[in-house]
Amino acid sequence: MKLAVWDPDEPFRRWRDALVQHASELGLAVEVIDATTEPDTQADFALVWKPPAHWLAGQLGLRAVFNLGAGVDAVLPLMHQALPGVPLIRLENAGMGRQMADYVAEAVLHAWRRMADYAALQSAQRWEPLVLPPRGSFHVGFLGLGQMGYAAARRIAAMDFPVLACTRSGQPRPTFEAPWPLYPLDRLDAFLAQTRVLVVLLPLTAQTTGLLDYAVLSHLPRGAHVVNAGRGAVIEQADLLDLLGSGHIASATLDVFATEPLPDGDPLWRHPRVRITPHVAAQTLVGPAAAQVMRKIATIERGEAPSGAVDLRLGY
Ligand code: GLV
Repeated sequence: MKLAVWDPDEPFRRWRDALVQHASELGLAVEVIDATTEPDTQADFALVWKPPAHWLAGQLGLRAVFNLGAGVDAVLPLMHQALPGVPLIRLENAGMGRQMADYVAEAVLHAWRRMADYAALQSAQRWEPLVLPPRGSFHVGFLGLGQMGYAAARRIAAMDFPVLACTRSGQPRPTFEAPWPLYPLDRLDAFLAQTRVLVVLLPLTAQTTGLLDYAVLSHLPRGAHVVNAGRGAVIEQADLLDLLGSGHIASATLDVFATEPLPDGDPLWRHPRVRITPHVAAQTLVGPAAAQVMRKIATIERGEAPSGAVDLRLGY
């Protein structure tokens, strides 16, 4: 069977070597094609990160498309147009959950230990011990509890911070043990009112684009912190800046932005209470990702449905 890889961010041979190795362990014979140099070769399965629409539209024999990341917003609209009926399957954790948990843990500790306040004191050359908020009342609220949110929430709970979460349905998922207060999205305001650190790990969909605007973010208590490691366009950046300016939001740790790279001169770059990383919170790891994709292909070959299929209607 032929696998086409479209991933401009990773040397092709790394994918090829890992896929061939895992395929042979599963007793499958594969030919792996670099779609960026051989776009016309027809494949049975595609593994993609931000592929161009015209290439995907020309792949008429695909049995499934695997997204080489957790968020499918870059590929989903292309699937609708070009390949209706072909399943889109995302990576499920594949080593990204631990990275995300690390990123969020650092941001929560940064917020709790008042490191933004200490940075301001340092720039004024002031030696001034600050009072810490009690840990037990420093609620960390996860907006979005998918694979990334769940991995990070478990870590934060293990660090003895109280955790709460808000998801589209607010219903517990049978596959996740999440013994935290769960709010549905239509109770977002009540969830935010309880949250000292807001961790945004929502998928980008029609429902979540621009969800966190001035009015909504104002439901956070004064002095709350924001961490966004999901998708930038979920937050109205200008509104976040206004709330940072008024002190309503004490700090932001941002890994994702509406436009990436964050444009030169964007006021977020120089804001003293904003920390910026260039979309690195949880990166795709070739080894675990290739192993997971090959296991799912083996599942499809057996005539079964693999987990991780995207619900095209919900958009994630
Ligand atoms: C990264 O943003 C991903 O979706 O995996």
